[in-house]
Amino acid sequence: ITVDWDAVTAEKGGYEHFMLKEIHEQPKAYRDTMLGRMNPEGTKVILPELKMTEEQIKNIKNVQIVACGTAYHAGLVGRNLIESLARIPVENDIASEYRYRSPIVTPETLVIVVSQSGETADTLAALREGHANGAHVLAITNVVGSSIAREADDVLVTLAGPEIAVASTKAYTSQIIAFALFALYLAEVRGTQSEKEIAHILAAMQSLPEQVESILEKKDDIKAYAEHISKHEHLFYLGRGVDYAVAQESSLKLKEISYIHSEAYAAGELKHGTLALIEEGVPVIALATQEAVLEKTVSNIKEVKARGGEVLAITHQEHVNDLLKSVDRVIAIPKTLPMLTPALSIVTTQLLAYYASLALGHDVDKPRNLAKSVTVE
Ligand code: G6P
Repeated sequence: ITVDWDAVTAEKGGYEHFMLKEIHEQPKAYRDTMLGRMNPEGTKVILPELKMTEEQIKNIKNVQIVACGTAYHAGLVGRNLIESLARIPVENDIASEYRYRSPIVTPETLVIVVSQSGETADTLAALREGHANGAHVLAITNVVGSSIAREADDVLVTLAGPEIAVASTKAYTSQIIAFALFALYLAEVRGTQSEKEIAHILAAMQSLPEQVESILEKKDDIKAYAEHISKHEHLFYLGRGVDYAVAQESSLKLKEISYIHSEAYAAGELKHGTLALIEEGVPVIALATQEAVLEKTVSNIKEVKARGGEVLAITHQEHVNDLLKSVDRVIAIPKTLPMLTPALSIVTTQLLAYYASLALGHDVDKPRNLAKSVTVE
């Protein structure tokens, strides 16, 4: 008997690609990143690894989240979590832009750098810029001994495990979990949320792994739609609020591995120019999970439909019937709190990018021109 076996195949654990394996590892990555970071009653976040004192936390005047690529997109979700839970103003910066814009940093600024590898040159330079201006720097990273982890004042480690595919999946979602924990911790210390509210959010977070599993079970529907979009050259993602943040990451995912040109737009902004690109049959994926702005998103979807765009909506089960009146297809995701939906909705668009790349016969794990870790500025 001969067995067709090699070390790489073994590492893929039965999956065709590392990316697909890593998408499936997300429930575990969520659980591991939350493990030991809340009290047994689930009413409080505990982050004993942080050196920041309660007084320092109470004195934070502003937060700057700095990162590159997918980690930057996780920071957009992080901003919403910190602003809504801890009511501290947050700015997001692309690391390669940060230091050249003379950011206003004071000793009461908390700079959060986000990096899967902990080695990205631009992000490391941003960390040093923060330090040079006297800011406290917190790193959210997946690699404990990395340069960024070593130079930061505080480190919040994501426990996603090694990520091999160039396109980041489980690192991104683990960064969102880390941001949610940190935002809740800030809220606790600063007294901006009641214990009851914190417990409610923590309970919702603990349901996320199982909810991701239920999305993964429906991957064949997503595969069929991916094969359809693989025949198109242009595609648009739309969303409002955190749905817009997810739209940006979804669009990047699709571009980097399928090479289909895609743009993410804040749904309400489309009419200020880009709507001109919508013509008969152009696929538009609308992330429509945020109840507070759902009606507005639907009216943006109607603008697209009126120009012949072909719309797929990603929403919660309870809105499927309603949305089907205005769109061509719907993918339903399980219900969670609005601020946590990115941890679920992104899984559908990760799969979409994966299957589109597969349908086009591209090298999913090693896309052209890209590197997993970029150590030059
Ligand atoms: C590279 C990778 C991206 C990643 C970015 C930031 O461009 O291809 O997937 O998001 O670097 O990497 P980091 O390790 O800092 O999160």
